[in-house]
Amino acid sequence: MSKRVPDLELSRRGLLVAGAAGAAAAAVPTAEAQPRPAAAAPPSAKVALSVNGTTHTLELDTRTTLLDALREHLRLTGTKKGCDHGQCGACTVIVDGQRINSCLTLAVMHQGESITTIEGLGTPDKLHPMQAAFVRHDGYQCGYCTPGQICSAVSVLAEIRAGIPSHVTGDLTAAPRISNAEMRERMSGNICRCGAYSNILEAMADVAENHA
Ligand code: FES
Ligand code: FES
Repeated sequence: MSKRVPDLELSRRGLLVAGAAGAAAAAVPTAEAQPRPAAAAPPSAKVALSVNGTTHTLELDTRTTLLDALREHLRLTGTKKGCDHGQCGACTVIVDGQRINSCLTLAVMHQGESITTIEGLGTPDKLHPMQAAFVRHDGYQCGYCTPGQICSAVSVLAEIRAGIPSHVTGDLTAAPRISNAEMRERMSGNICRCGAYSNILEAMADVAENHA
């Protein structure tokens, strides 16, 4: 028969009492304990944004992305938030004629620039040619990526027409042509989970051909 060692014996009740005493001691502030400093107010600034031809002055936390300023402050929810990490293109808007991912840039960086969102391209009664072509060619299914796709598509055609080469441009001394390869390459930052890519290309080719 084994013999019990009294020193190592600890009753359940004793263990609970010891634990409670330890917790109470930890909760009592010591002489060295310092009060926590009050949390600093977030940095903010007045930001004037020109969006779709109208200037809006907003008081913003300076860390606000352009995407959040558009969606959360101006209620322009046509621009979509997909990944919020620059990987899907759903947030694409046109700034001074160039497409950018609005989730990757701060609103304060765009004062004085001309920002165009999907709401500024056309209206339900008077669609932009690219919007109309997307409808004609069924360039979407769920539609979530579509505002970003359309802003990119408009900008891509302008880039090619301006003679800006891409990774697949063969001859850098000649003006790039509006080809499937050029459009695919330049649209590669716009992801469509529904896989409407071929119809998007058809819509772009239609606009390229019929709207100089
Ligand atoms: Fe900006 Fe995906 S939300 S790239
Ligand atoms: Fe659904 Fe593109 S239409 S993600």
